[in-house]
Amino acid sequence: MSEDKSPRHAAEPQAADVSEAQIAVHWPEEGYFSPPVQFIAQANLTDPGIFERFSLEHCPECFKEFADLLDWYKYWETTLDASNPPFWRWFVGGRLNACHNCVDRHLASHRNKTAIHFVPEPEDEAVQHLTYQELFVRVNELAALLRETFGLAVGDRVTLHMPMVPELPITMLACARLGVIHSQVFSGFSGKACADRIVDSGSRLLITMDAYHRAGDLLDHKEKADIAVAEAASAGHQIDKVLVWQRYPGKYSSPTALVDGRDVLVNDLLAKYRGRRVEPVQMPAEAPLFLMYTSGTTGRPKGCQHSTGGYLAYVTWTSRYIQDIHPEDVYWCMADIGWITGHSYIVYGPLSLAASSVVYEGVPTYPDPGRPWRIAEKLGVNIFHTSPTAIRALRRSGPDEPTKYQYHFKHMTTVGEPIEPEVWKWYHKVVGKGEAVIVDTWWQTENGGFLCSTVPAIHKMKPGSTGPGIPGIHPVIFDDDGHELPSGSGKAGNICIRNPWPGVLQTVWKDPDRYVKNYYARYCKDPKSKDWRDWPYLAGDGAMQAADGYFRILGRIDDVINVAGHRLGTKEIESAALLVPDVTEAAVVPVADEIKGKVPDLYVSLKPGLSPSPKIASKISASVVSRIGAIARPRRVVIVPDMPKTRSGKIMRRVLAAISNHQDPGDVSTLANPEIVEKIKGLAEGE
Ligand code: WT7
Repeated sequence: MSEDKSPRHAAEPQAADVSEAQIAVHWPEEGYFSPPVQFIAQANLTDPGIFERFSLEHCPECFKEFADLLDWYKYWETTLDASNPPFWRWFVGGRLNACHNCVDRHLASHRNKTAIHFVPEPEDEAVQHLTYQELFVRVNELAALLRETFGLAVGDRVTLHMPMVPELPITMLACARLGVIHSQVFSGFSGKACADRIVDSGSRLLITMDAYHRAGDLLDHKEKADIAVAEAASAGHQIDKVLVWQRYPGKYSSPTALVDGRDVLVNDLLAKYRGRRVEPVQMPAEAPLFLMYTSGTTGRPKGCQHSTGGYLAYVTWTSRYIQDIHPEDVYWCMADIGWITGHSYIVYGPLSLAASSVVYEGVPTYPDPGRPWRIAEKLGVNIFHTSPTAIRALRRSGPDEPTKYQYHFKHMTTVGEPIEPEVWKWYHKVVGKGEAVIVDTWWQTENGGFLCSTVPAIHKMKPGSTGPGIPGIHPVIFDDDGHELPSGSGKAGNICIRNPWPGVLQTVWKDPDRYVKNYYARYCKDPKSKDWRDWPYLAGDGAMQAADGYFRILGRIDDVINVAGHRLGTKEIESAALLVPDVTEAAVVPVADEIKGKVPDLYVSLKPGLSPSPKIASKISASVVSRIGAIARPRRVVIVPDMPKTRSGKIMRRVLAAISNHQDPGDVSTLANPEIVEKIKGLAEGE
């Protein structure tokens, strides 16, 4: 099985305006795979009656079953208050604490069970097994410190910029215990990207770590905090304190000096709080639990605000019934906690179910592509969760590695991007050894948890397709005019969800108008309507529904590039390029990539009088990396004499996209400057 046989790359789309939709539609419909009987025998959810219980007619009351998986201080009165659409309020009147639900409530039965297996990247460093008791102690001590030394209280925002270490979930849970809203920024993001999120959320405190291991290096992470604070200051926002965790407690591992009066070492301060306990704050169900920033159609990232009760109920239910987590399972989601996947399916969901959750510090292929399978063997992992990007990379660099290790998965997940059927089949046969059920879960940062997936013991699997909506989620595809495209129509359209669900974002932080405009305005039947049925949620993905009801997700319909399963705004990348004074115009287009799905190509034009040089190109690339992070690094920077433009002056990104993807740009005669196309082609091909 070689990589380039995968249908996605074999398909040669013809049209110039090659959308994700057209690429994906070239995949033939695949046959079904059945869930293994051993899986069904132990599964948490086998009753097909679930779909009737969660039918549209039973929404929203059916979600009581979700909330009933949690401990409530005060039981809620109203399942859904939809009186002010689309600002949904779930489980109104209820009070709970997310930290209590993920930690304290398990002590009675699972005190000595491992909550977190921390696997450091260096293989000679011991794995740490944190029990629920240990987690309880450490979360309490930190909560006491945050409250007493730094005065944090209910509703305050705190920005976290932390790598994949146990201190990250500990910090999140300590915030949750106090009713403090955490906003974790992916550690791979730059100091500047972190600053943007600090400023938007209004945090006065930044919590970071001195260093962490990545691909064999011990990276200086603290330097990013200095940049973040300086950048926030230049935007008029002051960070009062930077709390620095030490990767090796008691030893400072960063070459960047601590700033007197501003930076404090968490481990030093914690000494004062040994053995301290803090009562969890009894939070209203609709109090925000955290912010998670994501890219959207305009440059500024959106702070997706997630609630305490609705979100936690949603991730707990989906972890139990779609991930099939039992308390005795060892569960590994190989994502980063800095993304929503990690929040929902490394931290909150699994811990709420008293599972053992693996936190792996490093890259999957370090020091070799056998690493994940050694970890699985060593820890007895039986549920594995990852992205198509990671699967492609592991398949390419170590196609036979899984066969060398004695591990057994009962369940595997894929998330974040469409998976090519060939890659799916390798995941199933080689990684899963034919023994594991697979769920292809489709959802977004905004959604809290899975929207579409097969229910693993009920549905058959179909490579390349996610499933139908999960119980309680009622997707629909609309064409551009708002007509429903029925299943089996063979046509792609915009996938929406008909009904509100508990995990959906509450709003965009400090920007309710943007929230309404982005997710609800497009297909709202009547902006004055008080009936939630008139407010379908627009996901922003193209999709089609097969006759069997399964959805195939075809990619973003907005200006967003999905790199390795993560959304990057084209505008964000373009703005970063425009920070270089030499640049007059910038345009980013997605290019198909074997491993990452998509990578950005950056086209720029320079100020008159400047001539292109590799030096300018690398300066522009560096600007993107420092502004956003290495994940956004352009595959290449193509310096062009002019952009292809419409007569009204709009840059024709689709022409650039065709060039980057070696496709025919089609009829360009209507452009203001058609002659430029051949020139750009020559430049791009000369690269
Ligand atoms: C976008 C959301 C959800 C956590 C990770 C990404 C794409 C997500 C799938 C899937 C095809 C998928 C969509 C979506 N996507 N899951 N199973 N099949 N595409 O979160 O960064 O908010 O990105 O990822 O395009 O809109 P995110």
